Amino acid sequence: MAKQDFSTVLITRRRLAKSVLGTLAVGTGCTRLHKAEFKSDDVTFAFPNLEPQLDLTHHVAEGYRAEVLIRWGDQLFDADRPFLWEQLTASEQARTFGYNNDFLALIEHDGHWLLTVNHESTSAQLMFEGQDRYTSRDPVHTDIEMAAHGLSILELQQDKSGRWSVVKNSPFTRRITADTPMIISGPCAGYSRLKTPEDPTGTRVKGTVHNCSGGLTPWGTILTCEENILYYFGGEQLDPEEKMAYKRYHIGYSKAYIWYQTHKRFDLAHAPKQPNRFGWVVEIDPTDPNSMPIKRTALGRFYHESANPIQNHDGRIVIYMGDDGYFEYLYRFVSAKPHVPHQAKSRLEYGKVLDEGELSVAKFHSDGTVEWIPLIFGTFGLTPENGFHCQEDVLIESRRAGDVVGATQMDRCEDVEPNPKTNKVYINCTKNQRRGTESFESTNPANPRIENHAGHTIELNPPNGDHTASVMEWDMLLLAGDLEHKAAYGETFEHDAALACPDNAAIDPNGRLWITTDGAEEVLGIADAIYAVETTGARRGQPCRLFSAPKGAEITGPCFSPDGKTLFLSVQHPGRPENGWTNCWPDFDEATPARPSIVVIQREDGGVIGG
Ligand code: FEO
Ligand code: CA
Ligand code: CA
Repeated sequence: MAKQDFSTVLITRRRLAKSVLGTLAVGTGCTRLHKAEFKSDDVTFAFPNLEPQLDLTHHVAEGYRAEVLIRWGDQLFDADRPFLWEQLTASEQARTFGYNNDFLALIEHDGHWLLTVNHESTSAQLMFEGQDRYTSRDPVHTDIEMAAHGLSILELQQDKSGRWSVVKNSPFTRRITADTPMIISGPCAGYSRLKTPEDPTGTRVKGTVHNCSGGLTPWGTILTCEENILYYFGGEQLDPEEKMAYKRYHIGYSKAYIWYQTHKRFDLAHAPKQPNRFGWVVEIDPTDPNSMPIKRTALGRFYHESANPIQNHDGRIVIYMGDDGYFEYLYRFVSAKPHVPHQAKSRLEYGKVLDEGELSVAKFHSDGTVEWIPLIFGTFGLTPENGFHCQEDVLIESRRAGDVVGATQMDRCEDVEPNPKTNKVYINCTKNQRRGTESFESTNPANPRIENHAGHTIELNPPNGDHTASVMEWDMLLLAGDLEHKAAYGETFEHDAALACPDNAAIDPNGRLWITTDGAEEVLGIADAIYAVETTGARRGQPCRLFSAPKGAEITGPCFSPDGKTLFLSVQHPGRPENGWTNCWPDFDEATPARPSIVVIQREDGGVIGG
C-alpha cells in the first residue's frame, strides 16, 4: 500500500477510536476520573495514574507497594551467601537465578506455588567488567553466559501478611540452561535438516536460548519461546542447502555470542544444521524437575516472541504467536484434535496434542477482516519450485512460507494475548521505525504509520468466539506515542498516561488488559512501565500507568496470582551500555552491578490490583 495520510487510515477503519489529541486535557492523569463520571461499563480500573518517571529507581502508583522477590545471582539451592559477581563461575551461575528474566508463569500444584521464569539473554556490558556490548568477546565468559540463559523454576510461599518469598532448595527448584538436554517432537523430529554430528537422529538437542515470552497451557505446562536465535551461531556457513534459509533468519550475524569458539555445536562449519534446532516453542513441565523439555515443531520456526494458548469451544487448542522481527508475521496454530483430560502419565503427555495441527499466518485487509492462510506443503505456492519439498521445510522456514503466501508484514509482533473472558485477542506491535523508509514497505491496513517509532495494539474479534475461524474481524485498540507520533487512544485520552513500544500483555483474573513497554525512553523520554488499558466504552484505549522501571530497564513478564491481588513483573537489563555502571538497581551498592530482578506488586490494603 502506498504511503497514506493518517486521517485516511482513521476513516477506513470501522471503529477506530477517535483521536482527540488536538483537544486533550493535558496533565489530568487517571486520578481525576472516577467511575461515576462515566457509564458503568466505561471504566473498569480504579487507581491513580503514576506520573511519567525517568530516574535510577522504580516507582509505583499511590496505594501500592513494589518489592523485589529475586535478583540475578540469588541462591536457589543453597543457603544465602553474598553475590560475588566478580568471582562468578558457570557452576555457581547454574545454581543461581539467571540473567534478564522475562516471561513469568505461576501455577498451583498440590499446594505448592511454582513460578516459571524465562532468562532471555545476557548483557555482557552489565555483567562483566571490560565488556561494552551485549555478547562478551572473552571466552572465559562463555560458560557463564550459557548458564545464565534458559529458565528458573522456583517454589514460592506466601506469609500471613500476603508477602511472597522464594523457597530455597524446594523439590521443584530447577535451572534449565543452554546445556539442558531436550526432545525434538512433532513433524520435524528426525528430519535430515535437524541432524548434527552430535545428534544423527535429529530428535535430541542440548539447550534452549533467547527464551523471551511464553504461555501457559490448560494442562499446566509452560510454553517458552526461542526468539532472537541469530545471536547464537558463529563460524563459516558452508552448507548450500541452508544458504537461503539462513539468510532469511539472519544466521551468521556478525556480533553473535562467541560460544561457537569453545562449543563446536554452535559452530556452523562443524554443525551446519544446528540453527534449525532453535527458534521453536519449547514445552516444560514445572511440576517434574526430572522431565525433559520438548521442542514442539508443529508450531513453526521463527523468532518466537510468545505462544499464548486458548482452548476453543470445541476443545481444540489454539495458539497465537508473533514474530518480533521487522516486517515479520503473525501466526496461529490450531491443534488437529481436542484436548481431553484423561489419565495421562504426565503433563507433557497432554502436550502431544501440540504435535499435530495447522499453522497459519495472518493477512489483514482494509475492510476490517483478517484472513488466516494455512501453511501447508503443496498449497499456495509452498511447492518445490519455491524451495519447499515437504511440510517439514514449510515449518523450518515458516518465515519464507509466510513470504510466499503473502502474509501481512507487521511492525514487530510481540505478545499476542487472547482474553478468555471476551475471546478477543490483543496484538502488541512494538514499533518499526524502518517502515516506509528507503526500500522498506510503506503502510498497510494493520500497520498504518510510516516510521512507526511508538508501536500500536490491534484487537482481533473471532466470530462467535471461534478461535479456529479462517476469517476474523480486527480493529485498532490504540496507536501509541504522543502528539508528534499522531497517536490515538480513547476519546477522553489523558496525556500523562501515554505509552510507547507495547511489548508484553496479560489479562488479569477479571478479564482486563495490561500492557508493558520496551523503549519508551527513546520515544517519550520516560521510563518503561506497565499500564492498565481500557478495552470498552468511551475510554477504550485509555492507558493508566501502575509501575515504572528504573532507567534503562524494560518491563516484561506480567503475571497475576489467581486472586488478582499480586502482580509479578520482570525488570530486565536495568542499565544500558551508556549508563550501566551508574545504575546499581536494586541494591544501590556501588560494588554490585545492576541486577535484573522480579518485582512483586501488591495493594497496600490487600485488594485486587487495578481496583
Ligand atoms: Fe524478547 Fe521481542 O522481546
Ligand atoms: Ca519481549
Ligand atoms: Ca503475555
